[in-house]
Order: sequence, then structure tokens, then C-alpha cells
Amino acid sequence: MYPSPDVPIPGWGNGEGEWGGCRLVPRLRAADHTHMTLKIPPMRGRAPREGSPARHLGTTGPQPIRSIARVVAAGRVRDLGLILSDQARLVLTRRYDAFATDRAYASSPHGWLGPLGRAADLRVLRLPVHVALRERIDNVVGALDALVRVEAREADPVRVISAPCGLARDLMAAAVRLGPDVSAAWTGVDVDQRGDVLPEAVRRADRAHVPIQFVRGDVFDPQLRTQLAARAPFHIVNCIGMTAWIDRAETEDLTSLFRDLLAPGAWLLVDSWREAADGELGRALHLPANYYEGDDFAAILERRGFSVEARRSTSGGVNTLWIARRR
Ligand SMILES: C[S@@+](CC[C@H](N)C(=O)[O-])C[C@H]1O[C@@H](n2cnc3c(N)ncnc32)[C@H](O)[C@@H]1O
Repeated sequence: MYPSPDVPIPGWGNGEGEWGGCRLVPRLRAADHTHMTLKIPPMRGRAPREGSPARHLGTTGPQPIRSIARVVAAGRVRDLGLILSDQARLVLTRRYDAFATDRAYASSPHGWLGPLGRAADLRVLRLPVHVALRERIDNVVGALDALVRVEAREADPVRVISAPCGLARDLMAAAVRLGPDVSAAWTGVDVDQRGDVLPEAVRRADRAHVPIQFVRGDVFDPQLRTQLAARAPFHIVNCIGMTAWIDRAETEDLTSLFRDLLAPGAWLLVDSWREAADGELGRALHLPANYYEGDDFAAILERRGFSVEARRSTSGGVNTLWIARRR
């Protein structure tokens, strides 16, 4: 149905304007974008509004102690072993928030009781969900690199917004890979419920010498949406690690927001998960995740004003990165 099945990637991030075997041609003229420097005050503090989909993440989930108790109560030796793993405890206490996700990206095993904890952590970091996270970030960085290069032929700077950005590892890796000759303006938005994600992202961006404007806010908050709309259009919206935590209606709504932030021909990068991802940790946690099979996700993108240009899945099709263009 869609013209972009998974194929080997010949021109992956090589500046040739190819992604997933598709040629990517800039359709926007530079004049279509405003060239102002973003002046969003960094990290405006807004707590998530009552009833926000942000409730799916972090501290608003079940109590950490209760989560751990559930694993202990289940009493299976394999599950008990999970608790020695730093990654398992992080996910049990913070779910897949920015830190747990980023620790899966970094994949450096540690845990309680020295070698035992390390072995348990290694096992957890090798679960399909974590392998998929690592493959996903490679896919995202490669796609950002390719798309920014394509847009840079016409735009200066190429304006990229990542929502939710978490610790923004993908933006930093892409910026470093693009180097100083490609001009890009990076914006990261995150609700940062505990107030510890964006300060850490700022520290990392400083260390990497990548200027990123961080905005603290809930993407479902009309006030934040108005603020972002005032700074549209962007050339690229990057939405990674969100759609599994919100329901389909919310994903449709978010996709419409992204359409409104982009000019015709501009790009949306967004990922979706298949049920295969829900392994031991997911079952122990009863994670309220939303999965997509077949062309379900593509249908949402098409319905909300995008054409799917390419997609790339991780091993076993656990996670799919979609590259879509605003019609
Ligand atoms: C799984 S992390 C992914 C972050 C990042 N894109 C990455 O790949 O590392 C999900 C992030 O979504 C943020 N988040 C959740 N709900 C949000 C909302 N309604 N508005 C803005 N950010 C939200 C969380 O704070 C968290 O940092």
C-alpha cells in the first residue's frame, strides 16, 4: 500500500538526500520559512495539566514500591532476578521516561551485587524492547541527518522541533554528525514532570556544544500549542517515544498539531511500536502501552494530512520509524 517498504539503506545520511531507499527532495523554498532566531524562554515551568496524557509516564504511574512489590509477589525466580538490574529498577520506578529510555540507548550494564547485578542488567538490556530502542535511535539520527541535509539546500537555518525531546540524545547526535557547515536551529519540548530531565538535557547539550532551545510544556496544553504555533512553520518535527503512551485519539490529535506546525512538504518523524515489544518488564509493570499492527499507524498519518514517504523497522518489526511529509 505504501511505496516505502523496509529496504537496505544505500544513502543513509550521506547527504545524497536518500532515506530508506527513497529520494528526498526539498519542496519548500527558503522563503516559506521565517528566519527568526527562536526566542522561546528556556524551560518555562508548567506542570502537566490535570488529565493530561502525560499521566501515562513517570511518577503518575503506579507507585514504584507497588510495582516492585508486584514483581516480588509474583515470586518467579526470573522476575526476582530482574530487580538486581539497574535498568529494571529504573523502569519499575520511572517507567520508560527520558532517563530509563536513555539508559537503554547507552547500554552500559550495572546492577546490585556486582557481577550478579551486571549479568541481570545485561539480560534486561538485551530484551527486545531495549534492543529496539537502540536500533530506533540509530534510525532516528540517520533520518534527521538525511532530512536536515536535504532541507539545508533551501533553508538557513533548518528548523527542527523535537516533541517530546527527553534528554535529546538524538538531536545532539544528529547535530554533531552534521557538523558546523550545516545550519540548523534545534528546539526540544518536554513536560519534564519531575523537573530533572530538561536540566540534564541542558547540561549535555552544553557539553556537546549543541545549542538547543528547550521548552518545558505539555504538548496537549492549548497554551503551549499557541506558543509553538506562533513560531511555526518548522521544517522537521521529530516525535519519538510518545505514541505508545497515549491512545489512538490522542495520537491523531497530536498528529494534527504537528501538521499545523509544518508547511506543506515539510517532514514528520514519528515512531510506533508493535505488541512484540511487551516482554517481561511490560507484563510485570502492566504498562498501559498502545501498539499498532500492519498499516494502522500509516493510516493515521494519511488521515491527518501526511503522505508516508518511508519507514524503517527495528529487528523483528518491534519499532517502526515513519518518515512522512505534510501534504
Ligand atoms: C520515552 S521518553 C522519549 C524521549 C526522547 N524522544 C527520546 O527518544 O529519548 C518520553 C518523554 O515524553 C515526555 N512526555 C510525556 N508526555 C508528555 C506531554 N504530554 N508533553 C510533553 N512531553 C511529554 C516525558 O517527559 C519523556 O521525557
